Amino acid sequence: MKINFSNFFAISFLLVSVGVYASPEEDRELFHDYFEKLFPNTEYSDYKNGVYSIDSSSREQWESIEDFPPYEINIENGEELFNTPFKNGNTYAQCFENGGIGIRQNYPFFDEDKNMVMTLELAINNCRKKNGEKPLSYYKGGPMADISAYMAYTSRGNKINLEIPNNQKALEAYEHGKKLYFTKVGQLNFSCADCHVYKTGIKLRADIPSPAIGHTTHFPAYRSGAGRLVTLHERFAGCLSRVRHKPFKAQNEEYRNLEYFITYMSNGLEINGPGSRK
Ligand code: HEC
Repeated sequence: MKINFSNFFAISFLLVSVGVYASPEEDRELFHDYFEKLFPNTEYSDYKNGVYSIDSSSREQWESIEDFPPYEINIENGEELFNTPFKNGNTYAQCFENGGIGIRQNYPFFDEDKNMVMTLELAINNCRKKNGEKPLSYYKGGPMADISAYMAYTSRGNKINLEIPNNQKALEAYEHGKKLYFTKVGQLNFSCADCHVYKTGIKLRADIPSPAIGHTTHFPAYRSGAGRLVTLHERFAGCLSRVRHKPFKAQNEEYRNLEYFITYMSNGLEINGPGSRK
C-alpha cells in the first residue's frame, strides 16, 4: 500500500483539525477522499462490508458464510422478544417511531431533551425501564443483541444519514468522539485511527484492520471466533483490550460519542446488520 502525498496531506489535515472544530461535514469529506485514494477499487457503498471491502482474499469465504447466516436464529429470537408484551401489557413497538420497524439508521442521534447521544441499545433499555422491566445486559450476546439484530434486520437497505443538530452540546459530543478516535491509549499506545485509518489494509499479525468508514452499518455482528453476536460497544472494548487499555463500560459517554463520530463518517451507507465477521 502506498500513501501518496495528497492522501497524507488530507489525513494530516484531519488530525490538525482535531480540536479546532472543523465542521463534521468537512471531516467526512476528508475521510471519504482519503479512503477513495487508498482503495480506488472499492466502491463507497461497499464499505458496509468492512474488511471484506478491501481484502478480496477473505471475501469469498465470508460471502459463503453470509449465504447461510449464523445469526438467523438471533433475528428470529429477537423478533419474538420484540413482540412479547411487558408485564404491564405495553410493547417495545410503542417506544419507537414506526413501531420500531426500519429505524436502525436513525440511531445514534443527539437527544436534545436529555442532552446526550442516544444509541439504539440504550433506547431499548430505556423502553424497558419506562415499563417497569429490568435492563438487559449489553454483554455476551443474549436478548439485547437479539432484539438489536432484529431491529437492524428490518432496516436493511435504509441509508445512514446522521444529522448533527445546531446545538453546542451535540457538536461537543461529536468532537469528543473524534478526539477519542485519534488519541493514543493503552500500554501499546495506539489510537483507533492508527489501525482503522493509517494502517488500514496492512496486516497486523493475523488481521487486517478495516477502514473506519462502515463500522456501524452491520451491528450487532456475529463473530465466528466468539460464536455469538457482539454489540458495537463490546467490539470497541475488544479493540481497547487489544492495545491493553482498560475498556469503558458499554453505553457510557465515551463509547456513545465514539459511535456518534464514526456513524457520521458512514453517512450514505446502507444498514446491513446483523453481519458476520471473523
Ligand atoms: C491495534 C490495532 C487496532 C486498534 C488500535 C483498534 N482496532 Fe478496531 N479492529 C482491529 C482489527 C484487527 C479488527 C478486526 C478486523 C476488522 O474487521 O477490522 C478490528 C475491528 C474493529 C471493528 C469491527 C469492524 C467490523 O467491520 O465489524 C470496530 C467497529 C472497531 N475495530 C473499532 C475500533 C475503535 C473504535 C477503536 C478505538 C477505540 C479501535 N477499533 C482500535 C484493530 C484495531
